[in-house]
Amino acid sequence: MDKNYKRTLVTCALPYANGPVHIGHLAGVYVPADIYVRYLRMRGREVLYVCGSDEHGVPITIKARQQGCSPQDIVDRYHKIIDESFKGFGIDFDIYGRTSSDVHTKNASGFFRKLYDEGKFVTRESEQYYDPEAKTFLADRYIVGTCPKCGAEGAYGDQCEKCGSTLSPEELINPKSKLSGAEPIRKKTTHWYLPLQDYEQWLREWILEGHKEWRPNVYGQVKSWLDGGLQPRAVTRDLEWGVPVPVEGAEGKVLYVWFDAPIGYISNTQELLPDDWEKWWKSPDTKLVHFIGKDNIVFHCIVFPAMLKAYGDGYILPENVPANEFLNLEGDKISTSRGWAVWAHEYLQDFPGKADVLRYVLTANAPETKDNDFSWKDFQTRNNSELVAIFGNFVNRAVVLTHKYFGGRVPACGTLEDIDKEVLSEIPRLKASIESNIENYKFREALRDAMSIARAGNKYISDTEPWKVAKTDMERTATILNISLQICADLAIAFEPFTPFAAEKLKIMLALDCLDWEILGRPSILPSGHQLADAELLFAKIEDDAINAQLARLDAIRAEREAKEKAEAAKQVAPQKEECTFEDFEKMDIRTATVLEAVKVPKTDKLLKLTIDTGMDKRVIVSGIAEYYSPEEMVNRQICILANLKPRVIRGIESHGMILMAKQGDGKMRFITPQEVLANGAQIG
Ligand code: MF3
Ligand code: ZN
Repeated sequence: MDKNYKRTLVTCALPYANGPVHIGHLAGVYVPADIYVRYLRMRGREVLYVCGSDEHGVPITIKARQQGCSPQDIVDRYHKIIDESFKGFGIDFDIYGRTSSDVHTKNASGFFRKLYDEGKFVTRESEQYYDPEAKTFLADRYIVGTCPKCGAEGAYGDQCEKCGSTLSPEELINPKSKLSGAEPIRKKTTHWYLPLQDYEQWLREWILEGHKEWRPNVYGQVKSWLDGGLQPRAVTRDLEWGVPVPVEGAEGKVLYVWFDAPIGYISNTQELLPDDWEKWWKSPDTKLVHFIGKDNIVFHCIVFPAMLKAYGDGYILPENVPANEFLNLEGDKISTSRGWAVWAHEYLQDFPGKADVLRYVLTANAPETKDNDFSWKDFQTRNNSELVAIFGNFVNRAVVLTHKYFGGRVPACGTLEDIDKEVLSEIPRLKASIESNIENYKFREALRDAMSIARAGNKYISDTEPWKVAKTDMERTATILNISLQICADLAIAFEPFTPFAAEKLKIMLALDCLDWEILGRPSILPSGHQLADAELLFAKIEDDAINAQLARLDAIRAEREAKEKAEAAKQVAPQKEECTFEDFEKMDIRTATVLEAVKVPKTDKLLKLTIDTGMDKRVIVSGIAEYYSPEEMVNRQICILANLKPRVIRGIESHGMILMAKQGDGKMRFITPQEVLANGAQIG
């Protein structure tokens, strides 16, 4: 449980520098961490806030190959984009480092070396997939195949993105090299493994017994890993891009990205504080909190702690790992490779000056306990009917009326009436609730509390109607506005962690010196006579046009994907049916015929009633082709039929035969017609 810590070290998962960050990253990791850090800082706590780019790993090298550039080019490009996106959202780390830095390379290398020297690894020779054309071993994402768990195509050697299962390359069905498409062969190679099973008992005690307060999703995942039994985990790979394994005979091998990346937290701290970093990582007075997404749980709760335990030397362990679930976008899983995302840097371009709005929406809808959905309509509604209509509207009324009646000076507070006392007493209660929610990593609820202050203020000013009272009673008007302005100051403080840009604007409008958490809820933050600055709108309405443009963009992506999937499906060929004899075939009387009349069968979507000339007779066939052909399209067409099929009654109509259709893998159907028009009744065989 929470001890009396002196300082807090907050880390955010290091994003892979192989693409920009999107709303899923922001909602899952960076916005909640930022709220937490801003809150602690306002409370005067000593905090260090560390992040950086994760610049190793197979996806980066794959991307470099695709684009014909070096991995370093890729990480340079995305490191910059990601760094700027974070700044644009007000997420201002003490350091945003990089795992391709010298400090990190040395540090990660030294970390490995110490464990190696102390015999903390085991080596194992195993057969691993090797691409005979590209002449390289195929680690993790270099190998793709069919998922053994869900049957999806294109699962990676380390994970299936469709069902989320963790995989190893050997489990894939029909493995193929991602580099050359070649079928991989197996080749012997030696790697270093961390024997995780040796730490199992210790992990059980530390987490399962010692941290029952962790989020159920985190605790549950840890428990199921531990209950499943831990295995030695390879910490090296046969790859070129990464931190070289600092051991003789390890040419062509690098540290596994999940071994080096978490060490990046330490390296980045060292880079920032070369002389003072140890107090953040080795003092029991430091509270360490890792903000991550749910796909990182095992690494932060099992692998990295085991690494630190193996290393010894006083490294501290996380006090909590508040991992979030996933955010979906308009009902579909966010996917970088499929382009199904709202990119942070694009949002900042499309909605300049509205970083707060996204911070607000992602927090109000944070996937803290379950996966959640982001929709642009919800985004618009939350902006227009919460930020604008409640928070912004209240502040605007209070400040504008103060300018109108009192020259922008905070008027004196007179005798309090019940309604005044009520609203004032709400605030300390909400303040306490925000505190306990944030300290327990419940950011959605904390935001709801902050918004309740705005709601209370907005209701107060609507109920007391100072614009009417001003016609008869200036003293009472003064009191109402004084109280309203105190609530505005409360809002500037309470919202600073959530919407820092609006809080700053409000701070300037109210001419506050600083936003100090301790004064939140005090009755006289603003002394009477205090001069306000000009009124400014805190939030602006978001119009349908802006939302429709975003939806149109997503629709285009969805349409493109569906077209691709359809084209793929169309190529799927059904397996051949079981053998039949010539006699079986001979039994079928297949002939040409011409459609004379076609009508839809009433009250059905799929059925057409066709009257046809078979050369032998005129007869009726009921056929399920209305999805593919209109009645008009069928009239006068020559078709092929199975003439001697036993008559069947379909929707009360007797059907005498069946039309021959060809059906593609995607379900598309076309009738069969002779290559030139023949007499009706011509036999096919
Ligand atoms: N790059 C990883 C991801 O995006 C996170 C790395 S976190 C660290 O999933 F601890 F390894 F740094
Ligand atoms: Zn799967």
